[in-house]
Amino acid sequence: MMKQVNLYVNAANRKSKINKEIYGHFSEHLGRCIYDGIYVGEDSTIPNVKGMRKDVVDALKEIKTPVLRWPGGCFADEYHWKDGIGPKEDRKKMVNTNWGGVTEDNSFGTHEFLELCEQIGCEPYIAGNLGSGTVQELSEWVEYMTFDGISPMADLRKKNGREKPWKVKYLGIGNENWGCGGNMEPDYYAAEYRRYQQFCKNFSGNELYKVACGPNSDDYHWTDVLMSKINKGISKAISLHYYTVPGEWSKKGSATAFSKDEYFTTLQKAYKMEELIVKHCEIMSKHDQEHEIGLIVDEWGNWFDVEPGTNPGFLYQQNTMRDAITASINLNIFNQHSDRVVMANIAQVVNVLQSVILTEGDKMIKTPTFHIFRMYRDHQEATLLDSYIDATTTAENATIPALSQSVSMKEDGSILATISNCDLEQDYEVTIHLAAKCAKSCTAEILQAEIDAYNSFDNADVVEPKVYNGFSMKEDTIVVTVPAASVIALSIK
Ligand code: AHR
Repeated sequence: MMKQVNLYVNAANRKSKINKEIYGHFSEHLGRCIYDGIYVGEDSTIPNVKGMRKDVVDALKEIKTPVLRWPGGCFADEYHWKDGIGPKEDRKKMVNTNWGGVTEDNSFGTHEFLELCEQIGCEPYIAGNLGSGTVQELSEWVEYMTFDGISPMADLRKKNGREKPWKVKYLGIGNENWGCGGNMEPDYYAAEYRRYQQFCKNFSGNELYKVACGPNSDDYHWTDVLMSKINKGISKAISLHYYTVPGEWSKKGSATAFSKDEYFTTLQKAYKMEELIVKHCEIMSKHDQEHEIGLIVDEWGNWFDVEPGTNPGFLYQQNTMRDAITASINLNIFNQHSDRVVMANIAQVVNVLQSVILTEGDKMIKTPTFHIFRMYRDHQEATLLDSYIDATTTAENATIPALSQSVSMKEDGSILATISNCDLEQDYEVTIHLAAKCAKSCTAEILQAEIDAYNSFDNADVVEPKVYNGFSMKEDTIVVTVPAASVIALSIK
């Protein structure tokens, strides 16, 4: 039997702006993310522009990718940027110690990454090396990329073929410095952060947005210490990393073959993001009542066991309707907390963890998670509206909210409501009550499939959004049926 619930939306109560960067991505020199996934080189038979796969760049443009983080991840704190510039044949070949011990030939470096961002039309987000690098090295990287004048680094850039500097806004200073980035204590890291950031200058009109390495998951102590040692003058934001791992790290669970119980455990763990954001934000507010320092969730997503037969160090996993549901939950949470959450970067963009894109040779598929980013893209730069749903918890697991939602309004008054139904069997009839808004028209899309369905290289369209007519409307109410295990996006004008 259909359950009836209400979604109350107050268009007069406009909350925070949903930064487009919440829909950001992350790319690391890990497995087949960069090489194969993004960069194939100019001589490849795979269609490319300056070595970047055309199919991948086009797909990333389709979801309006706003920002891309690079070069890691753990790789970042072992990355020495000078290894990745200049003639490719002279670039150092090194071992990627974090990810499979494979040879990194540095053919994708600073110029290539910034070229990629230009092709996508997104902001670059550089993760600097604090763990094993030097202050001078990071400061010179900034000079190399952004200084428009005469200096050793600007001259070197010009010698390497780029006359004009790039604009680089986002600069992360270290990655997971509580772990792979140096095993530091928070007060030690905070002191290092203060020193490093001091020598990263704003050159030639480029304004750096400096991001300090924030906590791992529920390490509230790290947040407290870090926030007590930085201020808005030296940091614009701190990061948070949290992955949804259904099992143990040693046995995380399969990406495609999972039981009902595992599905609900995954959801429960995905919902932990809400608790983490609330608690870290409380601590941040204790130190920064004005909300001048943002929270950037620059690594999030589902982390399952690798696909059977693939390199365990490459973190390659398939992506099902379950991933679509957890992506929708997370994005709704980020929207709801956009007063403090200023950016988020799903891990990782291609062929690694919860990717939006998978590639195999010259083939490319868009995953269910891709489609969520496509359906949600109009939340970018819109204003969050006050909304409340009176749904309870799923029929199968009383700790998981049955429906997840967020609603935003564009400057032209159009509304996007995104609703996902986590239940596996229960459909919901949601009556959307619009206060302070007369709806003249409404269109909808739905993503719905078996919960373990996925797109493969032989069958790429199993999980795809469809136009949805399962709603009726009056002036101030829209009644929509949200089937079990589906995600719906309603565009209301
Ligand atoms: O995304 C994979 C890894 O997860 C990153 O390199 C690291 O930052 C995190 O632990």
